[in-house]
Amino acid sequence: MKQQYPIGVFDSGFGGLTVLNSIIQSLPQYDYIYLGDNARTPYGNRSFETVYEYTREAVDWLFKNNCRLVILACNTASAKALRNIQQKDLLNYGPQHKVLGIIRPVTEAIDSYSKTKHVGILATQGTVNSESYIIEIKKFFPEMTVVQEACPIWVPLVETLEYKSTGADYFVKKHIDQLLKKDSLIDTIVLGCTHYPLLIDKIRKFVPEYIQIISQGSIVGNKLADYLERHPEIENLCSQNASVQFYTTDSSDSFNILASEFFEKEISSIKVAFK
Ligand code: DGL
Repeated sequence: MKQQYPIGVFDSGFGGLTVLNSIIQSLPQYDYIYLGDNARTPYGNRSFETVYEYTREAVDWLFKNNCRLVILACNTASAKALRNIQQKDLLNYGPQHKVLGIIRPVTEAIDSYSKTKHVGILATQGTVNSESYIIEIKKFFPEMTVVQEACPIWVPLVETLEYKSTGADYFVKKHIDQLLKKDSLIDTIVLGCTHYPLLIDKIRKFVPEYIQIISQGSIVGNKLADYLERHPEIENLCSQNASVQFYTTDSSDSFNILASEFFEKEISSIKVAFK
């Protein structure tokens, strides 16, 4: 009988659940393992070396726990660790092991959203500093103007469940105003952090209506479906029992409460340690 495996989905914390939700909507038939590194979140302000080390440990854990295809459902990890993992670490695992990020799918598709060809990126400090969005968008669409704004407080607002509080308005408005001040022609804003869709009501409140706001989830879900169609050798490795398992590096009780809110379903997780 052929061996098949669940698809691994990784984030520094809860944000990747917004991507997992959309992936499951596009591809409900597969099995998924979600891993949140809640004990060490947020990654956004950490150094390149640290994000790479943490992400490599998480990917290694997912491979050891039976995944062959891993999605980094975290922009910071995609920006700072993906290339090294793909070019160096995967050589140690063998050809069946694949790791995909979530920045490229959005940058490939961005042209179909923006008419003015002026795009704004809201992301963590790490993603902004890496300039991954600018580099990737320019690769596909050199004529585009891309401006960025780091929102270092937004992930903590989400992780501490303050994202619906009135106090959060100040920080949401502040960064949107700063982004829009950088380029008045922006007609499209990318939420370049998987935590940010949780703040969508507040973001919408402060962004003019003519500006489109793009969350990554649905784009990533569709692009993954397309990837699996183009790579039958990988698709054949994916087991199909429509199951999801949740793992966290911090307390599973706290994870269950918050993750159930983000995932919009009851969740029962297991706590794991990498070492
Ligand atoms: N959700 C992650 C992202 O998409 C990272 C948040 C963080 O850990 O700072 O960038």
